[in-house]
Amino acid sequence: MMEFNKQDTIAVLVGGPSAEREISRNTGGAVAEALSSLGYNIVKLALEPKTVAAQLAALKAKAVFNCVHGLYGEDGRLQSILEAAGLPYTGSGVLASAIAMDKAASKRFFIADGISTPACLIFGKADLKDKGACLEKIRAKFSLPVVLKAASQGSSIGVAIVKEEAALAAALEDVSHYSEEVVAEEYIAGKELTVAIMEKEGEPTALPIIMIAPHSGAYDFHSKYTKGATDYLVPAPLKEEETAAVQELALKAYRCLGLSGVARIDVLLNAEGTPFVIEANTVPGMTATSLVPKAAAAVGIDFPALCALILAGAHY
Ligand SMILES: Nc1ncnc2c1ncn2[C@@H]1O[C@H](COP(=O)(O)OP(=O)(O)O)[C@@H](O)[C@H]1O
Ligand SMILES: [Mg+2]
Repeated sequence: MMEFNKQDTIAVLVGGPSAEREISRNTGGAVAEALSSLGYNIVKLALEPKTVAAQLAALKAKAVFNCVHGLYGEDGRLQSILEAAGLPYTGSGVLASAIAMDKAASKRFFIADGISTPACLIFGKADLKDKGACLEKIRAKFSLPVVLKAASQGSSIGVAIVKEEAALAAALEDVSHYSEEVVAEEYIAGKELTVAIMEKEGEPTALPIIMIAPHSGAYDFHSKYTKGATDYLVPAPLKEEETAAVQELALKAYRCLGLSGVARIDVLLNAEGTPFVIEANTVPGMTATSLVPKAAAAVGIDFPALCALILAGAHY
């Protein structure tokens, strides 16, 4: 645990080059406001990769609260700049961030550790030169619907749930524009869950599970970011043994990827009660209405207290 004096300058980093920069500004605004309300000396800084190290030095920042989603903020690049600058930062380290951001790399880690995750095929750059061959492999392994995902995107961008054969080729073409690798994944029908993990005295601990119930039936960009489009139930109304299995799986996934600080693990639970990890989010949204704050509130941790706990976990 890091101890910061309230006079120390804490930089809240926001923005960045990814498509999620708007969402990052909301996260950063909420975090900055919450920490300021506790008396911390906060400076909000828009991430400019080339100059961020010099800017942080000029501010004499003592630590960074990272609110940059996606490119740079969530993929290990920013973490590597901060390591070089010797500045403590919130969340996961360089390698863990890079693996978690990449859905193909994450799958390889989950599979190697025997962690329950939907069956998949991973197509690399060379494979994708022959889309026809990829399609044949997909058809041979999966029945529809099948899920196609760009390896390195978030916020449901570059994710296609293909329900009809006629849409498969175009979906593969489209998804492969977002990334050099594509994951084709078995579709899991069932409950959509997410588990926030926090470190308590250095030990990863699962917060109450959140069940996500989009009114449209699909948890896409619209359902994620439109007010009232999705119901969030916390704690998720599951059987006791399902809750235990989902939390245990989320903790396994967290450890498997080597994550630290707060992370959110997305899990699908099928009708038989078997949970599957789909991905890890290492810079989860942190507005007052985001999922991690909802889970923390369910155990009595209010939003400013949550931000202070995350800051105290900053490391390098
Ligand atoms: N294997 C799957 N089976 C069914 N639905 C899926 C599957 N993978 C993803 N989805 C749906 O697509 C959404 C986005 O996928 P996810 O892998 O979490 O990527 P991201 O959140 O980074 O866009 C999920 O929240 C879920 O609703
Ligand atoms: Mg997700």
